[in-house]
Amino acid sequence: MSDTSPPAPLRLGIAGLGTVGIGVVKIIQAHTDLLSARAGRPVVITAISARDRQKNRDADLSAYAWVDQATELATRDDVDVVVELVGGENGIAKETIELALDNGKDVVTANKALLAVHGQALAERAEANGRLIRFEAAVAGGIPVIKTITESLAGNRIRRVMGVMNGTCNYILTRMQSAGLPYETVFEEARSLGYLEADPTLDVGGIDASHKLAILATLAFGTRVAFDGVEIEGIERVSIDDINRAADMGYRIKLLGVAQMTGRGLEQRMSPCLVPCDSPLGQLEGGTNMVVIEGDAVGQIVLRGAGAGEGPTASAVMSDIIEIARGVRMPVFGQPATTLGSPQPARTAVPAAYYLRLTLADKPGALAKVASVLGDAGISIDRMRQYGHHAGEAPVLIVTHKTTPEAIDHAMQVLPKTGVITGDPVELRIEEV
Ligand SMILES: NC(=O)c1ccc[n+]([C@@H]2O[C@H](COP(=O)([O-])OP(=O)(O)OC[C@H]3O[C@@H](n4cnc5c(N)ncnc54)[C@H](OP(=O)(O)O)[C@@H]3O)[C@@H](O)[C@H]2O)c1
Repeated sequence: MSDTSPPAPLRLGIAGLGTVGIGVVKIIQAHTDLLSARAGRPVVITAISARDRQKNRDADLSAYAWVDQATELATRDDVDVVVELVGGENGIAKETIELALDNGKDVVTANKALLAVHGQALAERAEANGRLIRFEAAVAGGIPVIKTITESLAGNRIRRVMGVMNGTCNYILTRMQSAGLPYETVFEEARSLGYLEADPTLDVGGIDASHKLAILATLAFGTRVAFDGVEIEGIERVSIDDINRAADMGYRIKLLGVAQMTGRGLEQRMSPCLVPCDSPLGQLEGGTNMVVIEGDAVGQIVLRGAGAGEGPTASAVMSDIIEIARGVRMPVFGQPATTLGSPQPARTAVPAAYYLRLTLADKPGALAKVASVLGDAGISIDRMRQYGHHAGEAPVLIVTHKTTPEAIDHAMQVLPKTGVITGDPVELRIEEV
């Protein structure tokens, strides 16, 4: 006799009812039938947890069991999947996930900080227990980049992954440009609008975006997560002067993450870079994110969308929940965690063109001296623009041909000693996109 009983629901325990957690609750409540049809079984919330039970959360939570300790979700018999939306690389988030895996639960999380630091250990633990960790929301919010790399592009050798993955930094840089305001003013504006993390260096220092880059590098290159191998520079030294001058030369400045496997090892960089104004990355405005993936068979893929916020992030969390409900099982990082390679960090970046901004003293032969320093360092000039003298000084912009970061570092050290420039020269990499 065939079994005619209805399919068992997938039962969720949600830890964290903030921006993302409540977003997930709202989608499950609004789309009950649609989710059930797509997943082939009902998706239900059975238990929830957050810090403050009394908080008004703009959603009806009365049907769900409340637990004071998020870790309790991991041991409940009526929970199949623990959805961790608390955040933080340690503490309750990590404890809850570990306990869930050890108690036979699958895990969905949006926690990039945790995965960037403990991803390898957690993946090994999940796979040893035959459990899943899914994390589509951890990188670039609503953009389906995890599934794109691990599923849609699984037939490709990935050459390079890059992207703008911190909306706050992109907001600051584009606002500086459109309003002509200095970094400090726009930073304060972003803070008052609530765009910055409690610790703003996570955003403007490039750390949050680097967490995401390290996760993407693992998926793309089959290497263990190596957050400590990311060379990180934030946007604090980007001046309105450079934004304007770069625009004069046809570029925009973006906090760009780049990961690529080179002959010298895995290169992972997060730094302010110039990209052409007319490229998709150059045209990215405000808080939007973009991820560019290059595969040997597919060529270049460009994904663009909301990198944060209640709806977009919850949308990504739901995609993981539905896949689990459908019975899709796969290794955490797309291949068994024990088979991931140990990445050799590339000590230097691949050659690139550079943008240099110097302030030239009004002295005879000053420009020739600069050209000779660059020539001695093996750097050739592609384009140069000198602005008029003002108070005995003239800004000069130089775009070099491709050169090595070592040659640029050397020239940056020698130039201030020539006596023909004032202040420190500025150098920014121009990324080929
Ligand atoms: N917000 C986004 O746009 C976004 C985008 C991508 C990824 N993420 C990731 O998603 C996760 C959640 O972010 P969020 O923006 O939703 O954070 P959030 O708004 O600050 O919410 C955090 C939730 O965790 C709860 N919580 C904090 N400490 C707890 C504890 N010790 N025990 C139990 N619950 C605790 C809080 O409880 P109370 O409400 O009672 O204080 C709150 O409900 C993070 O990993 C974040 O990096 C967020």
